Amino acid sequence: MPILVTGGCGYVGTHLTQALLARTDHAVTVVDTTWFGNYLQPHPRLTVCVGDIRAMDGFDLSRYDTIFHLAGIANDPSAELNPRASWEVNVLATMRLADRAARQGVRQFVFPSSGAVYGVRSEPRITEDLDPMPISDYNKTKMVAERVILSYSDAMTTTIFRPATVCGYSRRMRLDLAVNGLTMQALTRKRITVFGGSQVRPNIHIDDLVDLYLFALERRLAGVYNAAFENLTVLEIAKLVATHIDAGIDVQASTSDPRSYRLCSDRLRATGFRPAKNVSIAIGELAAAYRDGRLTDEPNWHTVSWMKARNLG
Ligand SMILES: NC(=O)c1ccc[n+]([C@@H]2O[C@H](COP(=O)([O-])OP(=O)(O)OC[C@H]3O[C@@H](n4cnc5c(N)ncnc54)[C@H](O)[C@@H]3O)[C@@H](O)[C@H]2O)c1
Repeated sequence: MPILVTGGCGYVGTHLTQALLARTDHAVTVVDTTWFGNYLQPHPRLTVCVGDIRAMDGFDLSRYDTIFHLAGIANDPSAELNPRASWEVNVLATMRLADRAARQGVRQFVFPSSGAVYGVRSEPRITEDLDPMPISDYNKTKMVAERVILSYSDAMTTTIFRPATVCGYSRRMRLDLAVNGLTMQALTRKRITVFGGSQVRPNIHIDDLVDLYLFALERRLAGVYNAAFENLTVLEIAKLVATHIDAGIDVQASTSDPRSYRLCSDRLRATGFRPAKNVSIAIGELAAAYRDGRLTDEPNWHTVSWMKARNLG
């Protein structure tokens, strides 16, 4: 069954593509602008097309069984660099892709929205039954894209995940993510700076998210699911990092990022899916990757500064 992975050269996409090749027999096609590079290992069942999802109208989708649609402007500050382009990529191109997928007989369309669609919330249990209250362009594009994709549920299996902030090692790293960034600070500076600190951030290990994508494919899972397994404050994450790496913690009072929310993943657990890893394991794996030279602090691991310097988006 041929699989298409848009954004397959990204942080999660690289890990997912490698897992699809290693753990299934499917042929995998990746479409990606390769803004942050291409760290995929060549494989006989892998085709990488360097291209933009805004220009896929001539791309034949009829041979694909499933599309994992991961391409997009992937966080708040990078979406704010060029909001118009972010809407074009995250929503308009997604709409055209989903529409063409449905018309051309694709069986399943899997999309990572974001747990951040819920906004700043005080409810102790953020379930899928609560209405999203997005506070940024990025979150708004995700909410609208979800609704567009779900409107094709009569024609194909539509699977929407609202993942927590992802953590852990990938060959294409992202150091703008909470656990990864704080761990890198501890490794390189022996100090961790936390802004605010009391904001609650849900987390998911990258291996668990990739397992979840494969689970969704095997089970033809349909619907909307939160995907988060540990709700921790930013200060708790910093303290956890300091249990693995000898580093001091500086807390700065102000924060420009007020997002704070606790995701409840009971609906996902009810499907039988269980995570195998956690934040502490991710920190230990990142530290090991740093020590054996697989992980270094590269400019293209910092999404917004890399995009800004190159006028990407
Ligand atoms: N990483 C997280 O914590 C997290 C959490 C929730 C949701 N998500 C979502 O998961 C998806 C993957 O996230 P990621 O962390 O791997 O991000 P990423 O930035 O590493 O990957 C996105 C990939 O999409 C590509 N891309 C961007 N615009 C494109 C375009 N117009 N055409 C083709 N390719 C394009 C980029 O080159 C990049 O390789 C994104 O949609 C993101 O919003 C990520």
